[in-house]
Amino acid sequence: MYNHAVLNEAALRSGLPRGKMGIELHYFERIDSTNLRAAELARQGAAEGTLLVADEQLEGRGRRGRRWHTPPGTALAFSLILRPAAMQAISPGGLGLVGALGVVEGLHQLGLSPLIKWPNDVLLGGRKVSGVFAEAAWVGELLDYVILGIGVNVREEALPQGAEMDFPATHVEGELGRRVDRPRLLLDILLGVDRWYPRLGKADLLAAWEDRLAFRGEQVELSDGSAPLRGILLGLTVDGWLRLADQAGEVVELEPGAHRLRPLAEGRSSGR
Ligand code: BTN
Repeated sequence: MYNHAVLNEAALRSGLPRGKMGIELHYFERIDSTNLRAAELARQGAAEGTLLVADEQLEGRGRRGRRWHTPPGTALAFSLILRPAAMQAISPGGLGLVGALGVVEGLHQLGLSPLIKWPNDVLLGGRKVSGVFAEAAWVGELLDYVILGIGVNVREEALPQGAEMDFPATHVEGELGRRVDRPRLLLDILLGVDRWYPRLGKADLLAAWEDRLAFRGEQVELSDGSAPLRGILLGLTVDGWLRLADQAGEVVELEPGAHRLRPLAEGRSSGR
């Protein structure tokens, strides 16, 4: 029987590795950021699949320079060191997607039906439950390594505060209505990452993404700081760009990364 207040390191260790992800585990009760520490280890030559897990982060990093809130006993916060073999061809954005699909699979195991808000936020009930932050390091034109950082709100106390909140948020236990075994969820997410990582750049990865795309067929707004673009979300291109029918009926394609997406109405494609 677990004490749910602490992330059970022993349970995690005994379940690892189930595949390539987690071949080596570094566990921290408290850390600044697992992404930062993973980058240090990657620079020192740590192997692909090395996993860093923290129960609490003091300076968790989110996308677009935001902070990511990880109080103790409430969340999953972890990073994986990846060294994709086809280093020139892989975009770090694709790795973010692998992370999101891993989270989707872990949540499926709990009986939930998450969706992905383009490009790689995971939603339950139309609210963000997990964020993925892939940080790449290059040597010249070659990708040296990618740190795939994943945060999941498991309990209510993990919900972002103030300026950290980029989208309405939720937590797994709230959606499920019961306690969640965090080591188990983490192991299931790792299995999902393991399954999708070799599919990087393949058509079935894109199909899985499109299948799980939130707000498809609905009115959305995309903003990049200048005039927002509104239209109906159609789907994805083969490169993972977003296809949108704008208000004049023209199909527009938008590159991942630059734009923030929000739905214009309460829709049905929200995932539960
Ligand atoms: C986002 O902005 O949505 C992405 C947030 C990613 C947060 C995770 S928590 C574990 C890892 N370590 C970090 O510092 N950030 C990522």
